[in-house]
Amino acid sequence: MPSMAVIGGTGLAQWPELELRDTVAQETVYGNPSAPIIIAQLGNVEVAFLARHGCPHQFAPHCINYRANIAALKQLGVNQIFAVNAVGSICSEIPPESIVIPDQVIDYTYGREHTFFPGDDQPVHHIDFTEPFSAGLRDQLLQTAQDIQLPIKDKAVYGCTQGPRLETVAEINRLERDGVDIVGMTAMPEAALAREMEIDYASIALVVNMAAGRSSGIITMDEIELALAKGMQNVKRLLLATLNR
Ligand code: HPA
Repeated sequence: MPSMAVIGGTGLAQWPELELRDTVAQETVYGNPSAPIIIAQLGNVEVAFLARHGCPHQFAPHCINYRANIAALKQLGVNQIFAVNAVGSICSEIPPESIVIPDQVIDYTYGREHTFFPGDDQPVHHIDFTEPFSAGLRDQLLQTAQDIQLPIKDKAVYGCTQGPRLETVAEINRLERDGVDIVGMTAMPEAALAREMEIDYASIALVVNMAAGRSSGIITMDEIELALAKGMQNVKRLLLATLNR
């Protein structure tokens, strides 16, 4: 079974370039993951692929069973996760279609099942989360991007909001004051759950819109879909090259 996994987000529910080897319906004590896990060949390596929102896309960010997703990958023997997250940008220097490898996160979500150690029948366990993303996986992504001459933003603070609605201008102004650079809805509690399971985890964030109030007019699904379609090609290039390093 593969030790590396990709969690695909919005715009990456399917990955036609993967050569399918197996499909695993992996049940966990937390329930079922968002979709069956695809075991596939990507270049010279075998990877596990999981569509975070289901396939087809059916779970809103706050309805995703993050614990089942991470537990299912752990059960398969995965110890490295590359997560793909669509985000909005708060910085004019990070326009749509940019690829960002965040190094920090602020969690604004609520009401999500966010730990494997709730303290009921399990002992409480306080993971260290000083650096929420794996330094080793981030280095691999940054090095590979350089090798394939793909421009990326090498660090950023990811603010994770509850969704599913997008933010107000005042909320984005507040996030900016907090130091947030990019805003999405799915990196948390996913990153923390991976840490609890001792799985290395890094995010590849694709900017699909300027955040509320950071461009003229409202945010449309058309602009998001266009940026997803164009930018995801580069995300896939980066993943293929990184996983085959
Ligand atoms: N806000 C929150 N999440 C997002 C956005 C956004 O503007 N774009 C894509 N995911």
